[in-house]
Amino acid sequence: MDIRVLKTKADIAKACGEIFIEEINKKPDIVLGLATGATPLPTYEYLIDAYKNGRVSFKEVTSFNLDEYCDLARENENSYYSYMLNNFFNHVDMDKSRINIPDGNAKDAEKECAAYDKMIEDMGGIDIQLLGIGTNGHIGFNEPSDEFTDATFKVKLSDSTIKSNSIYFPDGDMPRYALTMGIGSIMKAKKIILIATGAAKIDAVDKMVNGEVSPACPASILQNHDDVIIFLDEDAAAKINK
Ligand code: PGA
Repeated sequence: MDIRVLKTKADIAKACGEIFIEEINKKPDIVLGLATGATPLPTYEYLIDAYKNGRVSFKEVTSFNLDEYCDLARENENSYYSYMLNNFFNHVDMDKSRINIPDGNAKDAEKECAAYDKMIEDMGGIDIQLLGIGTNGHIGFNEPSDEFTDATFKVKLSDSTIKSNSIYFPDGDMPRYALTMGIGSIMKAKKIILIATGAAKIDAVDKMVNGEVSPACPASILQNHDDVIIFLDEDAAAKINK
């Protein structure tokens, strides 16, 4: 694991954004795995600025998002589809036909998940996968459990995730299920970049980096990937820096 501790979220956005810019300029038809949540927002803002300044184009890029809620209209402001349009895709020159997000409202979830995996495979796999980490150590919506998950699947969200994300659903209608790439899908990415910022992530980061590789902390599996960069701010790194 290549662990890089930087001072501020802005420093991380720059460092992470520059990696994406370099890789996209090297391979304009790159396949990106993208993440939602509060953590990657500064990186998306950095990439939007870089696009506006003519430093990078997303025209030939294909993207696959990690996950999407079930039983939430795509147009709902809290869907990950809306998040991606509002926070990134609508501000750059992404070809909308190359954007892929699991359909959390698919009638046959199993079929949707299998089709999603097949699309990733047909594109030659994910070149760079961006990740956040949950306070419970989840990546994507792979919640702590007894075994590592494999391909894309429908997951029942844990109480901890519902607690963390319910701030976005003040009316209390937080979805209970989601479709998510599995740990197996994530580990197939050629390069992985995980960002963790803020004191709430201290324990999850410590377990991911120093704990045993265990499905009790799904992110710990990243110890077994040979091209992972972990960007941390000083708050999130407080325990591992000791
Ligand atoms: P956050 O979520 O970026 O909103 O903290 C991260 C995650 O749950 O993976």
